[in-house]
Amino acid sequence: MRAVIVEAHGGPEVLRLAEHDSPQPGPGQLLVDVTTVGVNFMDIYQREGRPPYAGDVPFVLGSEGAGTVAAVGPDAQGVRQGDRVAWTGISGCYAEQVIIPADRAVPVPDEIDLETAGAVMLQGMTAHYLVTDTYPVAEGDPVVVHAAAGGVGLLLTQMVKMRGGVVVATTSTLQKAELARAAGADHVASYDDFGIVVREVTGGEGAAVVYDGVGQATFDASLAALRARGCMVLYGGASGPVPPVDPQRLQTGGSLFLTRPTLVHYIADVEELRWRAGEVFDWIAKGELDVRIGGTYPLADAARAQEDLAGRRTTGKLLLLPGI
Ligand SMILES: NC(=O)c1ccc[n+]([C@@H]2O[C@H](COP(=O)([O-])OP(=O)(O)OC[C@H]3O[C@@H](n4cnc5c(N)ncnc54)[C@H](OP(=O)(O)O)[C@@H]3O)[C@@H](O)[C@H]2O)c1
Repeated sequence: MRAVIVEAHGGPEVLRLAEHDSPQPGPGQLLVDVTTVGVNFMDIYQREGRPPYAGDVPFVLGSEGAGTVAAVGPDAQGVRQGDRVAWTGISGCYAEQVIIPADRAVPVPDEIDLETAGAVMLQGMTAHYLVTDTYPVAEGDPVVVHAAAGGVGLLLTQMVKMRGGVVVATTSTLQKAELARAAGADHVASYDDFGIVVREVTGGEGAAVVYDGVGQATFDASLAALRARGCMVLYGGASGPVPPVDPQRLQTGGSLFLTRPTLVHYIADVEELRWRAGEVFDWIAKGELDVRIGGTYPLADAARAQEDLAGRRTTGKLLLLPGI
């Protein structure tokens, strides 16, 4: 089987498509034929060796996908050969086959195709935990969603609207602004003027929460856009990592809250994983949540997919399809 290997940390040029032996599932494990691989920022950080994502080289990149169970290891409970499953947080997914623990495999309902399932495991469950648990959005809450035409952003915008929030979205282009509006954003602003828009929309009060996956470029203005006791949710750093923050800024900003969440702690056990994925799948099946696949690439073009993502040229979710 073929897999994309990082031979040394570095730029997109370090990715290499190579032949591997087909892995064998051990106790409690599944061998899966991969249909869909999710492309994520984390893959870029791991390729670069950026802390805290750096691992030992060489390794097969990728952590998310969906496919069909090809073989079931001893003692793997509740899953059979031929079942359709999806996952996130599993190493070595830029590949035609992957080994996953049976208790991290999420069954894919019949109504959901494998491309869609693989597209929402990381970004869909992230948007879900951000609006339900990190800061539970309430009816009427003014909410800033940065990079609203991106993979997380489009899903987050829709989920905030499902809970009755008022979305002030940011995007860098008119085309992306249109996508954010179509996803339900009430107001779309640039990164330079979103703070002004928030003040206008809230009568000067400020946002209840800012969901910020852009990081370095937006952090200061995001903090300044919050109302007293507002919540700064820094969930990523597409523009770069945020430098250390003096806690006194939270006091002077209005007794603010700051959190830096990550998905793994919100799908900590199999019950939470399956509940969260199940809600996302349910909304898709009912037509309440639209999933935009912004680009598909063969495995051999993994480097191009990562360049497009990092270069702000994409909208929605990017997928590698090992079968094309
Ligand atoms: N904490 C978690 O659990 C978790 C889970 C998933 C993802 N994330 C994070 O969430 C963020 C978004 O991930 P995603 O996969 O959905 O990506 P994405 O939003 O599809 O792509 C990133 C977007 O960020 C915007 N951006 C602004 N400044 C940028 C810059 N200097 N370089 C690159 N992009 C810039 C761009 O949109 P515009 O052109 O409109 O500005 C770009 O399209 C990433 O930081 C990722 O690491 C965190």
